[in-house]
Amino acid sequence: MKILVIQGVNLNRLGHRERGVYGSRTLEEFNLEIELFAAYKGVRMEFFQSNSERAIVERIHAAAADFDGFDGIVINPAAHTHYSVAIRDALAAVNIPAVEVHISNIHAREDFREHSVTAGACIGQISGFGALSYCLAIDAIVERAAGALVLPQNLRKTPYEIENMRTAASIANDAFTYIKEYVSPGKTERDIALELEFFMRKNGAEGLAFDTIVASGERSANPHAVPSDEKIPTNGYVMLDFGCKVNGCCSDMTRMIACGEISPQMRKIHDIVQEAQTAALSVIREGARASDVDKAARDIINAAGFAENFMHSTGHGVGTVVHEEPRISPKSTAILEEGMVITVEPGIYLEGVGGVRLEDMVVVTKDGCRNLSYGKTN
Ligand code: DQA
Repeated sequence: MKILVIQGVNLNRLGHRERGVYGSRTLEEFNLEIELFAAYKGVRMEFFQSNSERAIVERIHAAAADFDGFDGIVINPAAHTHYSVAIRDALAAVNIPAVEVHISNIHAREDFREHSVTAGACIGQISGFGALSYCLAIDAIVERAAGALVLPQNLRKTPYEIENMRTAASIANDAFTYIKEYVSPGKTERDIALELEFFMRKNGAEGLAFDTIVASGERSANPHAVPSDEKIPTNGYVMLDFGCKVNGCCSDMTRMIACGEISPQMRKIHDIVQEAQTAALSVIREGARASDVDKAARDIINAAGFAENFMHSTGHGVGTVVHEEPRISPKSTAILEEGMVITVEPGIYLEGVGGVRLEDMVVVTKDGCRNLSYGKTN
């Protein structure tokens, strides 16, 4: 990875100009610190400084034409920040993600510095951290290129986190008990989602863990269905996938509600999914391979002839983010450890007919798992 740092007008005077605002390090010392950080991150750097708007515009153009390619630009346009449409347009004209940085906090100074003309052509702006502003910008470019923020996750949850997830799961479980009575043919999926969410909020949830799924009839064949204004049919299952947050910790569960008559075909896939879930749960313990948990569920669904209809992984870790490591999938290399919280959620989806998914959230123990999805008495 290669990143270009552009230092704008007057920044060659660093170490001499307004030391109270910009510090006492010279531009060379500044750049050296940034380069050391970049080297630690495995990023190659190039530095450019100019007091000329034209030279900066041309350097940006040249970066786009560079045969070796830049993966990002960190730019401190300095005073040009506040009025250079030319630099903004140059950044917009090249296909390189740029982060605008400032040594001082431009929002805590004179009013005219608050406004940036150039930031609108950047992926973000970092202001007020001295040389660290540049390092944070490099980090942002690196993490963004990786596709997601790669935060070090504590996969083994603390007793405090587990307790909060248990509370969140318990609120969700109570919401399910309540909503079973509420669901009836003629109500819309959106009605049910809102009622579920309202119940959880009213009973101690600080928010949702993710967007609630309520899907009935054929629409439940889509694992990621969004609640619609479709009315619940007289006969068939309604799929609910929902969760809430307590002290920042998430819960996640999927339940099926039967309305009226259930067709033999849907009843059959429900039983298979239940069997697959029980099999996967029985494999979980400290030291078990995540891929074996997936396999236990998948083997049963495959043997019943529905291999193609189970197109997602069996589960995932849960914590302060609803989808965390470890993935419970065929390709996962993770080994389960005591204190990990994971979901077990096999499903079968028949296009044009409907789907069934059953999901519990469990905490891995030394010799098995503790299911968090059935309320506090469980
Ligand atoms: C600056 C802030 C600008 O307002 C000012 O004109 C600069 C430096 C900074 O890095 O804090 O020259 O970009």
